[in-house]
Amino acid sequence: MKKRKAALILCAAAALSLAACGSQETGGQTSSSQTQTGGTVGTDGPDAAGGGSTPISGGRILIAYFSVPETDGVDTEASASRVSADGEVMGNNEYIARLIQQETGGELFAIETVQEYPGTHDDLLDFAYNEMLDDARPELASQIEDPGSYDTIFLGYPNWNSDLPMPLYTFLEEYDFSGKTIIPFTTHGGSGFSRTIQTIADMQPDAAVVEDGLSISRNDVADAQGDVTDWIAGLGLAAE
Ligand SMILES: Cc1cc2nc3c(=O)[nH]c(=O)nc-3n(C[C@H](O)[C@H](O)[C@H](O)COP(=O)(O)O)c2cc1C
Repeated sequence: MKKRKAALILCAAAALSLAACGSQETGGQTSSSQTQTGGTVGTDGPDAAGGGSTPISGGRILIAYFSVPETDGVDTEASASRVSADGEVMGNNEYIARLIQQETGGELFAIETVQEYPGTHDDLLDFAYNEMLDDARPELASQIEDPGSYDTIFLGYPNWNSDLPMPLYTFLEEYDFSGKTIIPFTTHGGSGFSRTIQTIADMQPDAAVVEDGLSISRNDVADAQGDVTDWIAGLGLAAE
């Protein structure tokens, strides 16, 4: 009974937040990307400068992402949780991850779960709310081969309920990225990163977590190539 009440309150709050976001999106916001050159959070990280410009050394790069393409509702042009590119349909964060891969020459890693997420929008919303209320840790179906060999981890995910999707909690608990640089990126319906970068820094206190990752509204994902190119160049991580 209590759980049901909490769920209703959370749903109402999230609906309000998304409605607010929707009005931002229709208010002429064209791009919400932010770039920087290496300001970090996490007091114990190797580059823990607490802001400013710390060059990122790059080294071996992994691009890990979580993405759930929706199969119903809006088309692939605008406001969709999927993108059509090169004859393939994929989730928004997968598309951004592939652009980052092209720019940096890093290796792609899809964060996948044993359970399958519903493909339709309303079912996915319900499922994700319940997972969040349960503080679930969905079991991961994919593992990084030799995680210690990477120096820089781009970490991409959708904003879900103003938070990380629960599989990201599993991922960040499963791996220790101490001494590495984590560069977050997200796609969203208007909320940007919410508090997720601080959450990543809290969960990986000995990593250098870049404060101002790349945040792209789902309305702009299909046209994000230029933003991604500029961001990667700004980080000094473009492949030669
Ligand atoms: C379960 C769920 C919860 C969401 N919650 C939010 C939210 O709180 N704020 C927001 O801006 N967008 C929210 N969105 C929108 C997604 O962040 C956005 O569609 C994103 O681009 C999806 O990325 P993907 O295709 O890689 O999964 C939510 C979407 C889903 C499916």
